[in-house]
Amino acid sequence: MAVTFTVNGKPTTVDVPADMPLLWVLRDVLSLHGTKYGCGSGQCGACTVHVRGRAVRSCQTPVSNVAGAAVVTIEGLSADGSHPLQRAWETLDVPECGYCQAGQIMAAAALIAARPKPTDAEIDTAMNANLCRCGTYIRIRQGIHHAVRSVAATKTSEVK
Ligand code: FES
Ligand code: FES
Repeated sequence: MAVTFTVNGKPTTVDVPADMPLLWVLRDVLSLHGTKYGCGSGQCGACTVHVRGRAVRSCQTPVSNVAGAAVVTIEGLSADGSHPLQRAWETLDVPECGYCQAGQIMAAAALIAARPKPTDAEIDTAMNANLCRCGTYIRIRQGIHHAVRSVAATKTSEVK
């Protein structure tokens, strides 16, 4: 089945079985390896990408479900790694092994797009299902707050 959608702003058509998980399409067909395979069963969040602006588990998303949709992967979150979350992750040295972190950042990016100033409770709820074997949860939460502060500081300096 031919499925057409955009990936990181680029119009893309793939000819694959309709039920092939989006994660497989991204990694094996489109060679976008930033999105990780963790469990393959919707349990870990390593495969999180944005579809129509919402964080989804690409291992549980048949490619036919994204026909006509805008898909964004970690490679497309920013052109040069300058998304506030990516900067915060770098500043605070959030990752350990790094395996889960693309999924963490994509989940966090969807959160702050929807809730520009999330509380700790909102962060915990939104990030709850993104697992990290290295236990970086505290730094992830700090990273989200750091990114939110940097966005606010940029806005303040723009109006001065
Ligand atoms: S690989 Fe998709 S949730 Fe774990
Ligand atoms: S940084 Fe290692 S699994 Fe999260």
